[in-house]
Amino acid sequence: MSRIRILALGDIVGESGSAKIRECLWQIRKEKNIDAVIANGENSGARGGIDRDSAEMLFAGGADVITTGNHVWQNRPFSDYLENSLSVLRPANFPSACPGRGYGIFDASGYKMLVISLQGTVFMESLESPFLKAEAILEREKGNFDFAVVDLHAEATSEKIAFGLAFDGRINVIFGTHTHVQTNDARILPNGTGYVTDVGMTGVFNSVLGLDAELMIKKFYTKIPQYHNTAKGEVTISGAIFELDTDTFKCTNVELVNIRN
Ligand SMILES: [Fe+2]
Ligand SMILES: [Fe+2]
Repeated sequence: MSRIRILALGDIVGESGSAKIRECLWQIRKEKNIDAVIANGENSGARGGIDRDSAEMLFAGGADVITTGNHVWQNRPFSDYLENSLSVLRPANFPSACPGRGYGIFDASGYKMLVISLQGTVFMESLESPFLKAEAILEREKGNFDFAVVDLHAEATSEKIAFGLAFDGRINVIFGTHTHVQTNDARILPNGTGYVTDVGMTGVFNSVLGLDAELMIKKFYTKIPQYHNTAKGEVTISGAIFELDTDTFKCTNVELVNIRN
């Protein structure tokens, strides 16, 4: 029985997060026998959001597909890059007038991997339903892919878990991003989907979601908005590895990843 191994990386934060990926990802790919890497890059830019330099750094580091979320529009000039890139996705349930695309079919060691970027709607922008959008994409691309992966970029755990169970057995890997905090619920759902509510972040662990703690604490004491400076310190790479059986594309193992060195 052969297997394929997919590494999902949570929100990569700031220049230090992107540099860490650039420095370590090829080695991790080799050591852990990874066939494809899907990385959430929405916070990978040096000044917040995502930019051309950070996207290129993640690709050079060994990411195959970059997914995003609510911060994707932060750097206006990045819209041109999005429009011209097949491998950087913005959430598919944003209005179709937005630049870029929300999903694509990519090669993963000879298999056709459908990757969809979606954003939740609970405590977030009121976008088109990620559930209905996923249904529509699966219907449209029926027969064009071997297995499917979704990054559901969402705040509410309930929305992510409901999505996992709704698409159990139809989408092979479902992982959450956005909260920057890894959840301890990696599992294989009853019909064979590999699932984690949030894979966490790649950033400085002793921080407030990757940002400078002092400024963020000040914000909570004073309610005055502060600059969102990336925290300094040791970067942790967080994510999850999903192993799929290539006969059935059911998930056979999910392993949480936290690399601090
Ligand atoms: Fe984020
Ligand atoms: Fe986000």
